Amino acid sequence: MKKITVNASTEYDILIGKGLLSDAGKLCADTLGIHSVAIVSDDTVDALYSEALEKSLRDAGYSPIKFVIPHGEASKSMKSLEGLLGFLAENHMTRSDFLIALGGGVVGDLTGFAAAVYLRGIRFVQIPTTLLAAVDSSVGGKTAVNIPAGKNLVGAFHQPSLVICDCLTLDTLPENIFADGCAEVIKYGIINDKRLFEKLKSPIKPQIEDIIANCVSNKRDIVNADEFDNGIRRLLNLGHTVGHAVEICSNFGISHGSAVAIGTCIVARASARLGICEESLPCEAEKMFKDYSHPTTCKFSAEELTTVALGDKKRMGQTISFVLPYAIGDCRICDMNVETIKDFIQKGL
Ligand code: NAD
Ligand code: GLY
Repeated sequence: MKKITVNASTEYDILIGKGLLSDAGKLCADTLGIHSVAIVSDDTVDALYSEALEKSLRDAGYSPIKFVIPHGEASKSMKSLEGLLGFLAENHMTRSDFLIALGGGVVGDLTGFAAAVYLRGIRFVQIPTTLLAAVDSSVGGKTAVNIPAGKNLVGAFHQPSLVICDCLTLDTLPENIFADGCAEVIKYGIINDKRLFEKLKSPIKPQIEDIIANCVSNKRDIVNADEFDNGIRRLLNLGHTVGHAVEICSNFGISHGSAVAIGTCIVARASARLGICEESLPCEAEKMFKDYSHPTTCKFSAEELTTVALGDKKRMGQTISFVLPYAIGDCRICDMNVETIKDFIQKGL
């Protein structure tokens, strides 16, 4: 088992290993003590993993209750939040009690936000079961739900008390969802970890525990330095401003991971044309994303992508921050004037 400790406004451990789900009860008891606990999961993950988690919790002395949402992004909503908060109140959960998010980023973000606002804040544990959740969303305390005006527009920073990543749960992921997580893993390599990028040239599954630990260490360092996203944490948005525009232009027909791949490659090609990085960088990034089954181009025009990108929540007045690759493992934040963005995207198409 690997242990990585975050030292943000709260200190907590991220435990990564195979078979940890059956130890989850003891791990929770050691860190949080014996209190009331509510598991939150989606219907797919519930059918696969709740029984093992519940047994482990009961064996450790807990009497868990459970709230299950339908799988999918639509469940990351105010309606689910209201349902979950009502469930916690009906079951008399108090401030010493805690929640467990068992699932992917949807379950993690919803549960984390419910924990942030219920009784003005209770503790929660993340048990990520997708690769994306393992390497990104379960760590760092960003929690949110969506509203009709946009994704993640209502949220809070609320750090988990413990993250338990059982790599064996990733074995049941459909290939396309696993591939989406791989796009985020590649992102860490390009941002600041050339060694990780090199490791990804060999098949990822046999080295998954090591790769997840690499990504989480990278994210830990970033969150320790900038928990509230005012500085270097924005590096994690590599490919995301253009990627979100691609997702929206495709009416979410292009998955998040593929959109990040396309967004990263657009930014890399534009950076190469501007002399910010070597001509070889976009080729290397494209090859890596293609090897993990992602497209690197899209049919949308610079005009279409820019119109959407200008509405991005990362916009600050007349600037939007872009993450530019100077080399593999060396990305930097650049605040770009909105008037230059269309030309920049055009260069990358
Ligand atoms: P998800 O939670 O919707 O999971 C994807 C699908 O995989 C679901 O249908 C789920 O039921 C299924 N699934 C999960 N684990 C499984 C398993 N082990 N075996 C079989 N099926 C399984 O999606 P996701 O990609 O994990 O997360 C996406 C969400 O994460 C988005 O809402 C995004 O905004 C959010 N996110 C948050 C952060 C953050 O820092 N908080 C970072 C990145 C993404
Ligand atoms: N997923 C981006 C962040 O945590 O900042």
